[in-house]
Amino acid sequence: MKVNQVKLVYFSPTGTTQKVMESIAKGLAIKNVKHINLTLPAESSQIYPVFSDELVIMGAPVYGGRIPVDAIKRFSQLKANDTLVIPVVVYGNRAFEDALLELNNLALELGFRPIAGGAFIGEHSFATKSITIANGRPDSLDVQKAIAFGAKIKTKVSDLQPSDLQIDLELPGSFPYEADGVRKLAVSPITKKDICTVCGTCASVCPTAAISVEEKVTTQTSLCIRCCACIKTCPEKARIMADETWTNIANWLQENCSTRKEPQVFGVEM
Ligand SMILES: Cc1cc2nc3c(=O)[nH]c(=O)nc-3n(C[C@H](O)[C@H](O)[C@H](O)COP(=O)(O)O)c2cc1C
Ligand code: SF4
Ligand code: SF4
Repeated sequence: MKVNQVKLVYFSPTGTTQKVMESIAKGLAIKNVKHINLTLPAESSQIYPVFSDELVIMGAPVYGGRIPVDAIKRFSQLKANDTLVIPVVVYGNRAFEDALLELNNLALELGFRPIAGGAFIGEHSFATKSITIANGRPDSLDVQKAIAFGAKIKTKVSDLQPSDLQIDLELPGSFPYEADGVRKLAVSPITKKDICTVCGTCASVCPTAAISVEEKVTTQTSLCIRCCACIKTCPEKARIMADETWTNIANWLQENCSTRKEPQVFGVEM
């Protein structure tokens, strides 16, 4: 089969999923690459045409071994007509559990045809300069692997016949899903008022519109998904996680998930 366009469809609050997907697209070496970034509320409320003969890479981070609920909601508005798709999850060096299988199953329900999939590693959303969990990933080695994965997909697609679309991808994970997803914690980042310049950057990157910036920054904790985008993008380092349970989780991850994990791919030989 010949593919002339690649569409990257993703939810990526802190940008690691997007980076991995761009590297896979680089390996595909197809010039026409379009981004459908469903991270922010405004973009996700648009209506997208039914996907047809393009190749789609669909990506999301892993939250509690599953796909974030907001990513599922946004992807669920899409429809495809036997469109080839590569489901990709990016996780913070703990585990991806049922997430890749869940994304694959969702893609099938929407009318896509998964032909290969991957689980890559990205800096953990909870990581900071002092609590290190996969900091700096995807790094150059991850990028190389993602590019190589893209090149393998290209070969697989060019060898495919339209009659070969019912590929049964063998992916790790359990169905019914066993991973619980994210436990509800009634916490959100706080703002250090003494150094906040009320610039509004935090509100502009929040995927759930949980932050409003007027004379001061207000966060609606019930809307916060703890993606940490506001913490990582605040130019003044004025957004922090001050909650004890949250800090304990981050410390646990640092202690127990520091051994480097490597990307895993499925549906192609590497
Ligand atoms: C609420 C939450 C739950 C997470 N759960 C997991 C997890 O179960 N396993 C894991 O390895 N990483 C987990 N992570 C880390 C993210 O999967 C990882 O940092 C990913 O690279 C973030 O993707 P993004 O940069 O596209 O937002 C979690 C992050 C958040 C915010
Ligand atoms: S990004 Fe930082 S400095 Fe800017 S408004 Fe938000 S908390 Fe304040
Ligand atoms: S307020 Fe919560 S949901 Fe919004 S960017 Fe910050 S951590 Fe993410």
